[in-house]
Amino acid sequence: MQRAKFDLSLLGWVIVVLAIVLPATLWAAGYFAQPPVRIPSNVVWTPETIAQASNGNPVRGLIIGKRCTRCHGDEGFSDRPLTPNLAGMNVVAIWKQLQDFHSGKRVNSTMQGMVADRTDADIADIAAYFSMQLTTPDPLIKGPYPGARPTDAEIDTASRLVTLGDGTRGLPPCQACHGPAAFVQGAPSLATQNGEYIQLQLAAFSESTRTNDINERMRAIASQMTPAERDAVAKYYGAGFGVLPATTVKTK
Ligand code: HEC
Ligand code: HEC
Repeated sequence: MQRAKFDLSLLGWVIVVLAIVLPATLWAAGYFAQPPVRIPSNVVWTPETIAQASNGNPVRGLIIGKRCTRCHGDEGFSDRPLTPNLAGMNVVAIWKQLQDFHSGKRVNSTMQGMVADRTDADIADIAAYFSMQLTTPDPLIKGPYPGARPTDAEIDTASRLVTLGDGTRGLPPCQACHGPAAFVQGAPSLATQNGEYIQLQLAAFSESTRTNDINERMRAIASQMTPAERDAVAKYYGAGFGVLPATTVKTK
């Protein structure tokens, strides 16, 4: 009897060690720790955030947006090829990018510095102001937009990707999210954007140096495009062809 009792308590200790002490030690040593989940953006599109993004005061935005125009242009068309045109950009798209610079989800030291001290209200007001500017640049000022006409081969490549995408690679058409066919929440219109800026952003998505796209949509798309395709599409939009539905663009 004595012997059996001793065996049982030994077994009990073994169970205690295996069931509690061992996992606890491993846990304390960080064995079960997961890598932190990397969220692309703190912005989640809900009726509340869309309302917050859309209800800025454009007059206040005009005044506090003066510090932006030296790079982004007085009328929202930049004279620098790598600085985006903001004129007429969808208000929630501008708002999201400013929120992402503010939270550090989109990395750019200039822009992060520009919005570091801006409040949610400031961001909504500035977004309202730039979204209301005309999408036709001053014809007397020669800026990077609209850029030179791409070659016919580039127009062919680009208009196919813009209108049809490429099903074999799972590439949806650009115009299904960036207009003019349809807009996905937060997707900026590319129709009046500088070509070199578009090319820079496509390269950044494909190399995952820009990672603030919700659901990794743009990282998935840009990394499935060849450098020549990214170049062709960027020149196509940069030349102003994106203003028209792509089917109406003729190479001849
Ligand atoms: C010193 C030049 C400079 C100033 C001043 C500046 N920006 Fe920018 N901005 C840039 C550059 C360059 C980029 C592109 C960053 C990149 O390549 O990721 C940019 C990007 C942006 C974007 C992203 C647009 C897009 O298409 O994704 C927004 C929105 C923006 N700026 C708004 C502002 C606002 C609002 C201000 C004023 C508070 C401002 N910027 C001031 C240079 C500037
Ligand atoms: C499924 C929808 C979808 C499709 C298709 C798509 N995009 Fe995008 N794209 C987005 C969204 C959404 C964003 C905004 C990402 C963010 O929040 O930063 C974006 C951002 C971009 C930007 C950055 C714009 C800026 O102002 O900074 C570029 C450039 C771009 N897309 C190019 C393209 C091109 C070229 C194609 C076609 C080959 C394409 N996209 C297809 C959804 C899409």
